[in-house]
Amino acid sequence: MFSIRISFLHKFLCTTMASQVMGGTRAAHVFSMLVLISFFVIAAEGAIEEYAPMKILMDEWDIRPPSWVGSDPCVGGWAGIECTDSRITSIALADMALTGQLPSDIGLLSELESLNLSFNKGLKGLIPASIGKLTKLVYLNLVGCSFFGRIPDTIGSLQQLSYLSLKNNSFDGLIPPSIGNLSNLSFLDISDNKLVGSLPVSNRTTPGLDKLYKARHFHFQNNQLSGTIPSQLFSSQMVLIHVIFDRNNLTGSIPSTLGLVQTLQALRLDRNSLSGSVPSSLNNLSKIAELHLSNNQLTGPVPNLTSLNGLSYVDLSNNTFDVSDIPTWFSTLQNLTTLMMENTRLQGEVPQALFSNDNLETVVLRNNKINGLLDLETISSSNHLLIDMEKNFITDLSAGGSNSTLKLADNPICEGTNMTNNYCIVSLSNSSNLILPSNCASVACSPDQVSSPNCTCAYPYTGTLVFIFVSFSNLGNSRYYTTLQDSLVTTFQSYNLPVESVSLGYPTWGSSYQLELFIQVFPSGQDRFNQTGASAIASVISNQTLPQRPPFFGPYSAVLTYGNSGGGGSKKGLTIGAAVGGSVLLLLLALVGVYALQQKRRADKQWSRSIPLSGISNSSASAPRLKGARLFSFEELQKYTNGFSEANDVGAGGYGKVYRGILPTGQMVAIKRAKRDSMQGGPEFTAEVELLSRVHHKNLVSLVGFCLEQGEQILVYEYVPNGDLLDSLSGKSGIRLDWLKRLKIILGAARGLAYLHELANPPIIHRDIKSNNILLDKDLTAKVADFGLSKSMADSGTDHVTTQVKGTMGYLDPEYYMTQQLTEKSDVYSFGVVMLELITARRPIEQGKYIVRVVQMAMDKTKDLYNLQEVLDPYIGLGTELKGLEIFVDLAMSCVEESQDKRPRMGEVVKVIEKITQLAALNNSTSSSASYEDVSRDDLLPSAQRSRP
Ligand SMILES: *[C@@H]1O[C@H](CO)[C@@H](O)[C@H](O)[C@H]1NC(C)=O
Repeated sequence: MFSIRISFLHKFLCTTMASQVMGGTRAAHVFSMLVLISFFVIAAEGAIEEYAPMKILMDEWDIRPPSWVGSDPCVGGWAGIECTDSRITSIALADMALTGQLPSDIGLLSELESLNLSFNKGLKGLIPASIGKLTKLVYLNLVGCSFFGRIPDTIGSLQQLSYLSLKNNSFDGLIPPSIGNLSNLSFLDISDNKLVGSLPVSNRTTPGLDKLYKARHFHFQNNQLSGTIPSQLFSSQMVLIHVIFDRNNLTGSIPSTLGLVQTLQALRLDRNSLSGSVPSSLNNLSKIAELHLSNNQLTGPVPNLTSLNGLSYVDLSNNTFDVSDIPTWFSTLQNLTTLMMENTRLQGEVPQALFSNDNLETVVLRNNKINGLLDLETISSSNHLLIDMEKNFITDLSAGGSNSTLKLADNPICEGTNMTNNYCIVSLSNSSNLILPSNCASVACSPDQVSSPNCTCAYPYTGTLVFIFVSFSNLGNSRYYTTLQDSLVTTFQSYNLPVESVSLGYPTWGSSYQLELFIQVFPSGQDRFNQTGASAIASVISNQTLPQRPPFFGPYSAVLTYGNSGGGGSKKGLTIGAAVGGSVLLLLLALVGVYALQQKRRADKQWSRSIPLSGISNSSASAPRLKGARLFSFEELQKYTNGFSEANDVGAGGYGKVYRGILPTGQMVAIKRAKRDSMQGGPEFTAEVELLSRVHHKNLVSLVGFCLEQGEQILVYEYVPNGDLLDSLSGKSGIRLDWLKRLKIILGAARGLAYLHELANPPIIHRDIKSNNILLDKDLTAKVADFGLSKSMADSGTDHVTTQVKGTMGYLDPEYYMTQQLTEKSDVYSFGVVMLELITARRPIEQGKYIVRVVQMAMDKTKDLYNLQEVLDPYIGLGTELKGLEIFVDLAMSCVEESQDKRPRMGEVVKVIEKITQLAALNNSTSSSASYEDVSRDDLLPSAQRSRP
């Protein structure tokens, strides 16, 4: 590149000299020719200048979309690349399944203004310091990748930067003070990382965050930030609208200077260790709508929020304020939808006026010293409130005609004869699911396809939006979603993306106290988005804010479940259709999951339904008749299984029974019905449904639907016809597996598990990997099943979770067993045991002998097949050449290493098994040109049908 530049300079000088030396028209002609030539040289140089770093990126990331042809990224319309004057100005490659690192050569793209690599979980490593060379960068978005290490100081050199999002990576170390140099920064999001240390503010020598006078967003939540919030951080010059610091380790008091930031609309300081009293200056924040100060150690008087007329959502729970009567502002704030003051030492009677506010949706005053009469007469009959006053001293109730949900357990009023009243039942869950049924009942989509709100069949792009805050709490109220839906469609269309419609559904409170909302984006004029189309959708979603903020919703983060990792768009989304005619949304709401557990102490857990949050019916007749994860009525499932007949019983376990069923569409399903005594709590069950419905991979059993009715907990899965791996190894199923078939199966299982560990967001640990949980479908594709014990890593925030040891003997990771610390490596151990089972067809513990020991004892690495002929399953094809078996055994033994650190990650396991499969397939095929692709297509057909060249 450098040499080309010199040669160009050389030519230019020659040209200039030539024109000076020569005279007359001929010289002029030669001159113009040379100018023309040098013009081409410039153009070519431009191309080469951009191609070299682009080529490095392409090689590193293993990416080459179909539109990337030729050697000039600026010619021919490379998808995701924009240029100005033959220089790359924008790279947008969201959700392109990129893997690898960010090479330091990125710094060569010195004209770059916008870089969006969001939602590429395979991108990891450090951010190179050379990023500081991109001095024209305005927009940098690395949301949802796997970058780690320090955020480089050089980021402070990006003087033009207006948008910086590093959310949801694994950055550690301090927040670089140099960020304070980014005087044009408007959006700063470093949330969901592992950042430590205090919030940097400026002094004479170093810059700090207090200098970010243009910043509108400080999103720092869910890190390990510590120290006090410096009072210098805030000033009247600032224009912040969102200050989001929750889930850190911040200490000290809330600085009174926060009251100077008059523009503030939302403040989240919850779940830190803040102490001292709430400064009265917060009363100056006249625009604030969402205020979260819960779960700190705040003291002093309950804050007086009288003047904050715009407040809609207030959460002050779990602080140690002075004992106080119920503040008057409860009744005067007319925009209030949600009031949470659990465990805050409130006393006295609840003023009647509190409930006369028609905007009110949720009042949680649990665990206080509220007494006397609870008067709900003023609730208007059209309003359905959730009122949780458990653990107080309420003695009387005047409920009037209210059809609100009331919780009064552990109050004097619930002693004696009242105990059986609905409102006295201890409830565990108040999650509610909004299901938006379809008006497309007559549309028959092919399996896997989903009907769009406009009744066309397609494969939508799906994901979950996680809203950092919202202004409401009644998730079942449709009015909140219509505007959001419109804003999403408008936004996609404003980017000229071929989006037909968007459907929303399944709002739930996630484990991080944020609203999670499932979305499906439907393509227009095609049945699925291609990779670049999907990437463009992901880029737009990755912005986290919509150009026009819809009412009720704050910024969001996103979890995209579609991805491109499975190739093509055939992944099944949850099927919830929204009935949209034009922009009019016709909604029927169904609420499930409002369940109450009668008395925790009772041995026989009795499940009963409590009053739904909203009075709208949840009858299955109004549920969507669509394919995908849906709500079934008990009656329907009875019909599909012949009344859960013996004949349809296909298996049983500790949890209950599994029945085969046939849906009216003809689809076979496996219906897993929990026994009464093995039922999970309502929240656990809904969590499992949530989890399952988010996970979509060819090698994972997918969820078709569920039923939560009449005291039942039923999950409906796709039917996998060929039983489990154990059946095949034991000969029970009659399927004989040769070496190559076994490799293919274990490779599938490994890929499914690697997806759970490395691509699911949050990562999932299976916890019960065993040969009975690896199912085989009609062409023997492995499908990992039974997430009943799965543990989502979101529950913890660290890389391990401490849990009661669960799993199956023989497969249990000894380190997990001893420390109770569950990590992904525990699954790797169990997987290693399955690998040994696969080649020996022995149970992990057989006749008192442990499979790992058996193999270790028999093994002699100096001999052919490691001398394992004795212990190998004869049906594997002994006598034929078992190519790669030794590598396979080495891999299995590394998986069952005592120490978790020594075991490989599932991603690495996948790579090795891929190699072995390739080896074995080459050996197996008579074709000299056999490739791995041939293998995956052909190896499952009976040998007579195999295609031969
Ligand atoms: C709360 O503040 C308002 C004005 O901001 C004032 O009128 C009222 O007396 C205060 N209440 C208490 C209990 O201090």
